[in-house]
Amino acid sequence: MSSTEGKPIECLAAVAYEANKPLVIEKITVEPPKTHEIRVKILDSALCHTDAYTLSGADPEGLFPCILGHEASGEVESVGPEVTDFTPGDHVILLYTAECGECSFCKSPDTNLCVAVRSTQGKGVMPDGTVRFKNSKGEPIHHFMGCSSFSEYTVVADVSAVKIDKSFATDKAALLGCGVTTGYGAALKTANVKEGSSVAIFGAGAVGLAVAQGAKARNASKIIMIDTNPNKKTWATDFGATDFVNPLTDLKKDETIVSKLCSMSPDGYGIDYTFDCTGNVQVMSDALMASRRGTGVSVIIGVAKSGEVASIRPFFLVTGRTWKGTAYGGIKGRSEMNQLIQDHKDGKLKLSEFITHRRKFSEINEAFHDLHQGDCLRTTFSF
Ligand SMILES: NC(=O)c1ccc[n+]([C@@H]2O[C@H](COP(=O)([O-])OP(=O)(O)OC[C@H]3O[C@@H](n4cnc5c(N)ncnc54)[C@H](O)[C@@H]3O)[C@@H](O)[C@H]2O)c1
Ligand SMILES: [Zn+2]
Ligand SMILES: [Zn+2]
Repeated sequence: MSSTEGKPIECLAAVAYEANKPLVIEKITVEPPKTHEIRVKILDSALCHTDAYTLSGADPEGLFPCILGHEASGEVESVGPEVTDFTPGDHVILLYTAECGECSFCKSPDTNLCVAVRSTQGKGVMPDGTVRFKNSKGEPIHHFMGCSSFSEYTVVADVSAVKIDKSFATDKAALLGCGVTTGYGAALKTANVKEGSSVAIFGAGAVGLAVAQGAKARNASKIIMIDTNPNKKTWATDFGATDFVNPLTDLKKDETIVSKLCSMSPDGYGIDYTFDCTGNVQVMSDALMASRRGTGVSVIIGVAKSGEVASIRPFFLVTGRTWKGTAYGGIKGRSEMNQLIQDHKDGKLKLSEFITHRRKFSEINEAFHDLHQGDCLRTTFSF
């Protein structure tokens, strides 16, 4: 039994008090876990665009004050009543897409959208409707995406974590908590890319590069990366792209990105699988239009700005294209994570290569700045 079990823990956290203001690093209190909850000491956490999106105030569901962060690994410090799958000392990856194994969504092999903690997670509280964080004034602080990893300790539902082997590097493990799993899963599960097929990926951030890894793992014959930032070309190649197109500089007069991609497909009828990893609604419809007549599949991964609408002439669907979307790459976090770790060990999925910046937790506000510089895939913090 740890000396802290059953007691509140005082530790440092980065608290988001207001939209568009720097996070405040301060002492908070983390209450012990309740029924079906675990308290986790965060070992590594990465910063994702969704954290920045919520902090910017653009997220209509953003609640303040809160503790952001959802791409993370940690060690179980203590467990609440009725927890059977974890014991203190276990290493875990936090899951913003839970897997309870019992709801109709978990029972379906076709979706990972578990609803066990969905409604309370969206309200920034634990499943019993209360929070485990308070600041030194005793004011409650909301949870975020069921994870809140920008804290030395956090409490999550037991369905919102997966146990991993202790020998697996915790910084790599953190990356599997969101962007990399999302892109890789989008290729393998949502699109189910077939050997020898053609793939086009819009956006060479961590998510798009992970899609490229998935397409490469499936031996796609053509993997075209499209990005408006020319500096992404080297990365695209390193992560498996066979071609790179910059729509700002590589289109001839009268050419559109859609006609360019179709012209690059083996017989001119379009690309087998296309992916939006930008969040730009125009890109989403371009990606669908560039997908192959009759059989093309286009997957939306990017998160559009609040209120924006993606539209398409129905003709493109009538003529046999499929428009899909994915959350967390369709990966069921608890039952499928260890396969991703195996894929990494087998050399199919890069992980460390996504870490372009490493910072101290105290520099977390600078990390939000890194995100917008165009040279950052992921910044990780070790605690
Ligand atoms: N669906 C999910 O579960 C899920 C999970 C994680 C992230 N996301 C979303 O996925 C998207 C990508 O995340 P990321 O971390 O890779 O972001 P990122 O910002 O690092 O990468 C986006 C890339 O898109 C490029 N880009 C922007 N506009 C473009 C355009 N018009 N044409 C071509 N390229 C363009 C940028 O230059 C950049 O390289 C974000 O919208 C993020 O919110 C979704
Ligand atoms: Zn994320
Ligand atoms: Zn479920």
